[in-house]
Amino acid sequence: MAALDRLIATMVPLLPRGIVRRVSARYSAGESLAEVTAIVEDLNRRGRLATVDVLGEFVDRLEGVPATTEQYVQVLEVIRERSLDANISIKLTALGLQVDPQFCRKQVRRIVERAMALGNFVRIDMEDATCTDDTLAVFREFQDEHENVGIVLQAYLRRTLNDARALGQKAANFRLCKGIYVEPKRIAWKEPDAIRDNYVRALEVMLDAKSYVGIATHDETLVWRAMDMIRRRGLDPTEYEFQMLLGVDPDLEQVILDGGHRLRIYVPYGKAWYSYATRRLRENPAIAGYVFKNLLTMLSGRARLGRGPLERSKS
Ligand code: FDA
Repeated sequence: MAALDRLIATMVPLLPRGIVRRVSARYSAGESLAEVTAIVEDLNRRGRLATVDVLGEFVDRLEGVPATTEQYVQVLEVIRERSLDANISIKLTALGLQVDPQFCRKQVRRIVERAMALGNFVRIDMEDATCTDDTLAVFREFQDEHENVGIVLQAYLRRTLNDARALGQKAANFRLCKGIYVEPKRIAWKEPDAIRDNYVRALEVMLDAKSYVGIATHDETLVWRAMDMIRRRGLDPTEYEFQMLLGVDPDLEQVILDGGHRLRIYVPYGKAWYSYATRRLRENPAIAGYVFKNLLTMLSGRARLGRGPLERSKS
């Protein structure tokens, strides 16, 4: 399966843009602020919280960065104006981390301070391992001054338990995910069970430190383990939340909500959807596999639609 996923991933750049758009449509909230606002309103109506991500990452020039910063500020303003139950997730490489770290810090300050003034919260996404130390350094600086900033740790990294212990000393606000980038074995667990075990241990460390955790996964086993941990600790639903990506598993979303837990949906939007989608697909063959499955479902749905009248005429 992994070999097939890798093969599919190499073919992604050959897929017509329209197909990538259609297949990725359920995972992103469109290109405009109006579109993402409508999606978040709908999620809220259906009992889900949201976190909004302005697509874009790994910029190699600073020119466009202030516009990204202002886009985030606009999202914060709309959340306030419409009384949406949502916060934002930022990627430091979209704000120039790898070009000019001080410039990046200025952008983060602008976003975090505006969020603070509007009573909102900023989650710093975690990117590939070339960024881990710098991202944690920025988080620590802001965590010292602001309460409305959280960080992400990735269970596939071998360092994560140590990071969780160190950051937990200040009761950091965490999101815990498996990790999406393809990292070398030297620094990252590769076996799915090893990643799961590390996830469970990291979650324990975080909850022991009384940290607020966004439990970000679509892995049913992990969701079940987390629910069990929450029950045994007698946690109130305001002391943690589950998190999922837009469009990935609506059934599991409902299971989590029916269990009385809070659920936040990660909602990416923006003009950079194509490069985001294709980069993700190329970088992580497993996701190319999911997409291929969706593509087949979509095409077989079309084929079924096409067969419909014929079938009816036969009966
Ligand atoms: P796993 O990969 O085992 O997936 C479980 C099941 O979910 C799969 O069988 C599949 O069916 C489905 N699935 C998972 N991902 C899918 C997708 N994209 N499309 C379609 N189906 C999918 N990573 C990171 O490195 N830094 C970050 O900051 C974040 N932020 C983040 C926020 C939120 C809210 C979530 C849910 C995830 C992230 N991630 C992330 C991504 C995360 O690291 C991880 O790659 C994915 O969540 C997939 O891992 P699962 O835990 O879902 O398990």
